[in-house]
Amino acid sequence: MSTPVLELHGVGKRFRSADGHERVVLDGIDFTLHEGEIVSLLGKSGSGKSTLLRIMAGLIAADAGEVRYRGQPLYGPVRGVGMVFQSFALFPWLTVQQNVELGLEARGLPPAQRAPKAAAAIELIGLAGFEGALPRELSGGMRQRVGIARALVTEPEVLLMDEAFSALDVLTGERLRDDILELWHGGALPTKAMLVVSHSIEEAVVMADRVLVLASDPGRIRSQLAVWLPRPRAADSEEVRLLVDEVYALVTAGATRHGHDGGAAALAQRLPQADVARIDGLAERLAAPPFGGHADLPALAREAGLPDTELLAAAHALALLGLAHLDSGDLHLTPLGHRYVEAERPLRQELFGQQLLTQVPLAAHIRHSLEQESDGHLADEAFRRLLAQQLGEADAARVLQTLVAWARHGGVFEYDLHTGTLALPSGGSAAGAVE
Ligand SMILES: Nc1ncnc2c1ncn2[C@@H]1O[C@H](COP(=O)(O)OP(=O)(O)OP(=O)(O)O)[C@@H](O)[C@H]1O
Ligand SMILES: [Mg+2]
Repeated sequence: MSTPVLELHGVGKRFRSADGHERVVLDGIDFTLHEGEIVSLLGKSGSGKSTLLRIMAGLIAADAGEVRYRGQPLYGPVRGVGMVFQSFALFPWLTVQQNVELGLEARGLPPAQRAPKAAAAIELIGLAGFEGALPRELSGGMRQRVGIARALVTEPEVLLMDEAFSALDVLTGERLRDDILELWHGGALPTKAMLVVSHSIEEAVVMADRVLVLASDPGRIRSQLAVWLPRPRAADSEEVRLLVDEVYALVTAGATRHGHDGGAAALAQRLPQADVARIDGLAERLAAPPFGGHADLPALAREAGLPDTELLAAAHALALLGLAHLDSGDLHLTPLGHRYVEAERPLRQELFGQQLLTQVPLAAHIRHSLEQESDGHLADEAFRRLLAQQLGEADAARVLQTLVAWARHGGVFEYDLHTGTLALPSGGSAAGAVE
């Protein structure tokens, strides 16, 4: 039996938005990180992954439930838990050595003891010789190595990595990930357990002993999957591919379920952030050989050369618009989806607008509100506020941005960015004819 290092019991977190509305971001999270394991955390944007990590690092407090580190309740940052962020967060005027020493300074270690420890961490992560360099003299991959050295120098038992490889180009990210895995398995790291937030399913499967999927609104652990494959794991091996398939199925489970229960909650739907060109491109690829309208997502991801987050967003958009079914990691075009792909541009736009009006309640709500106005214009403010109450300001802005782009394409409504005004499309819109 492995020893628990970090335990979460019934952890919940709410945020209050600018207008005082409370929103549940995390709800009833039970999770134990054990000695010797790497756990990957997957979830849509806004599902609360970073919030969960900050709570585990003691950087912010949960407002329900309890976090225990080595059996003791966690009330703030502790020595044993370190975190690596996506953005490198280095001080530009400090050298590599000084940036890494900062981690120790915060712990109150005298300068004479800091230097050798920092030098050792820098060497461990492969930056020996760059101690005196400034961040701007380093490549992105090297900067992130400095960020990791700064976390490792405090010898954390638990290392929390929040999309630590996402800001890097693919090859650099993979190299850094593989180096860390090699250090981990070679016993060179002080760390006993890692939790890694990832936006790549393949990365999660290659790294982890266990993959967790966080559902959104509110964030709950939806499912987990143990990864028993031997290491090192080749990303392109058959075993990894099969598991990637399985995780895709977990991530897409229930994707086409629609929560049309009326009221603000139904309107404030988190739209997948996919632009129209990407949605169209995916539909076309899916219709074409070798797929002929039916593909499993990993095969489609390889063929399209898209990162998982982007592929999933476009696949969710097709499903949301009724142009495809998304089920257990498979994507099939619906009969309407086939018609859509075969149609010329004006008809496509009309179909797009029609589906947007019938499948996305907020689009219909805005359209109807505009039709009530004598001049067909409305400020975006009320809609923005309605969304922000459910999703928070940042996500509300993103949803509105996506919706506006879709609505404009489908001729459902227009938007003037400068004045923040929504308007009915001028002169015979495509979707205007659709009731
Ligand atoms: N300090 C805060 N105040 C108000 N809302 C917040 C705060 N921090 C996070 N949120 C909201 O909580 C939700 C979860 O945010 P979080 O950053 O944890 O998501 P995430 O899963 O890490 O997303 P991403 O994949 O985009 O990084 C978001 O809707 C976000 O807007
Ligand atoms: Mg995040």
